[in-house]
Amino acid sequence: MTANELRKKYIEFFKSKGHVEISGKSLIPENDPTVLFTTAGMHPLVPYILGEPHPAGKRLVNYQKCIRTVDIDSVGDPSHLTFFEMLGNWSLGDYFKEEAITYSYEFLTSRKWLGFSPEVLHITVFAGDEEVPPDNEAARIWRSLGIPEERVYFLPREDNWWGPAGTTGPCGPDSEMFIDTGKPPCSDTCKPGCSCGKYFEIWNDVFMQYNKTEEGKYEPLKQKTVDTGMGIERTAAMLQGKSSVYEIELFSPIIEIIEDASGKKYGSESETDHSIRIITDHIRASVFILGDERGVKPSNLGQGYILRRLIRRSIRHARKISAEGSLLAEAARKVIDIYSEVYPELAEKTGFIVDEINAETDRFLFTLKKGEHEFEKMLPNLLKNPRKVIPGRLAFKLYDTYGFPIEITEELAGEHGLSVDHEGFDKAFRKHQELSKKGAEKTFKGGLADHTEAVTRLHTATHLLHKALRMVLGDHVAQKGSNITSERLRFDFSHPQKMTPEEIKRVEEIVNEQIKRDLPVTFEVMSLEEAKKSGAIALFGEKYGEKVKVYSIGDFSKEVCGGPHVTHTGVLGRFRIVKEQSSSAGVRRIRAVLQDEDSEDRAG
Ligand code: ALA
Repeated sequence: MTANELRKKYIEFFKSKGHVEISGKSLIPENDPTVLFTTAGMHPLVPYILGEPHPAGKRLVNYQKCIRTVDIDSVGDPSHLTFFEMLGNWSLGDYFKEEAITYSYEFLTSRKWLGFSPEVLHITVFAGDEEVPPDNEAARIWRSLGIPEERVYFLPREDNWWGPAGTTGPCGPDSEMFIDTGKPPCSDTCKPGCSCGKYFEIWNDVFMQYNKTEEGKYEPLKQKTVDTGMGIERTAAMLQGKSSVYEIELFSPIIEIIEDASGKKYGSESETDHSIRIITDHIRASVFILGDERGVKPSNLGQGYILRRLIRRSIRHARKISAEGSLLAEAARKVIDIYSEVYPELAEKTGFIVDEINAETDRFLFTLKKGEHEFEKMLPNLLKNPRKVIPGRLAFKLYDTYGFPIEITEELAGEHGLSVDHEGFDKAFRKHQELSKKGAEKTFKGGLADHTEAVTRLHTATHLLHKALRMVLGDHVAQKGSNITSERLRFDFSHPQKMTPEEIKRVEEIVNEQIKRDLPVTFEVMSLEEAKKSGAIALFGEKYGEKVKVYSIGDFSKEVCGGPHVTHTGVLGRFRIVKEQSSSAGVRRIRAVLQDEDSEDRAG
């Protein structure tokens, strides 16, 4: 049974039991700043679980796309996923334990539905503690359906309790369903919940029957609610007799693309498999984040930062298994293909998804090799140090200069038995923020607030671009605005019409020639009058009589500017204009990036 057949059967089964199908919601929660992503089918339903009447009634069923970021670092083993789909059914103050468990049992074991043998089913229920009694009722119902006593396990709160969303509110015990994969037990105490992979959790029935009060007491709830969640990928793997989600049809076409790109076979070597699984999972999650109805782009904040981590980590693992080039974009297209029937929004946004993945790849590849090289240089010293810790300032340098999310540095460190000084990293991060704030206050007019290396390089490139535009288009070109992030420069300038492809190409060539010439970048301080006399391009806003800094790039350009700049142009890499468009009447806007010199084949 494929994942999609499972999806259809689940919806059909619960419809036959009086449930109404409702649509799943966006991966990015609306009006909920407490979590970055939708983590379960119940998440968008919280107001109704709290008592708000649902317009579709008291019995609901759906499938929901979910992302769990707590699991990112575990991804790579055979079972963890960041993106997954959850099938769910709800009773909002309608049926409770008896029907919920009976439905679960029927759907799992009936030949008409999933047809699992009752023999492979193992069940866990809440064991009880000082605050709440054991869930003997759930255990009794399972036994009444024929599950023998030795396959009903009582587990503690950390395993079988669904807490209130906040510190107060609805909560209750849950009952989880596991399939015995038939693997030998890892020890005498091996049981559901053990991580060895013998028991595979596929479904969770949550019984919200208590309200946790301000005083920390558990009062019985008036409106009891059932919330269930079945993992599509995990259940499909069990239905297909596979030992890992990565072997089902939602994953294997993606894995094939990675195999082709790397020349490595999945299943032949454990470290390679680990990387292949990371790329497969992360590209799926990235496609769904970008393609969501409330989709975001990679950034250094919130959901965008998670997306950045996912893409950058896949790139690093792609390099580890010698797969480069257009692998990620190709894998992304495959993900879209696989899901376009169920999630048509992905197909509609193909262009955007692929462009964003390519752009983030370009940004990261520009510095990745240098960063890895830098890390290898640090390594012998770090390994000699008995504490085996990467100091915070080095982790910060990898973040700031080479775009390594701290989590990538941690992973790299872990591969060599090292850890990272997190506190030191945070301290360096805050210090940097303060310095750039102060720098912005003190700097000369037109100076940059952000003094990171990436931004500084792009700043120098902006001067080269400005001059090249005047050479190609004419002296009417004047700067109307400039905005630089660590990834790209944006330059607005006066010019009446769209640039032709030839003009764009010529500007790129001129800038790249100046980079090849490795011109020195120097500055002098002088009065604005002197600056103008010397032929420097002066920007709007400066007042006569003021002292200004004039930056010269060899004999090529001279501009009034606060800096900072690189010391010579050879470090800039390769300049590429990625977009030329209108900004406002008579003003054009260029976006451009700097790429690694040897990324020739990627840029094409
Ligand atoms: N909300 C429950 C879970 O995610 C069903 O496990």
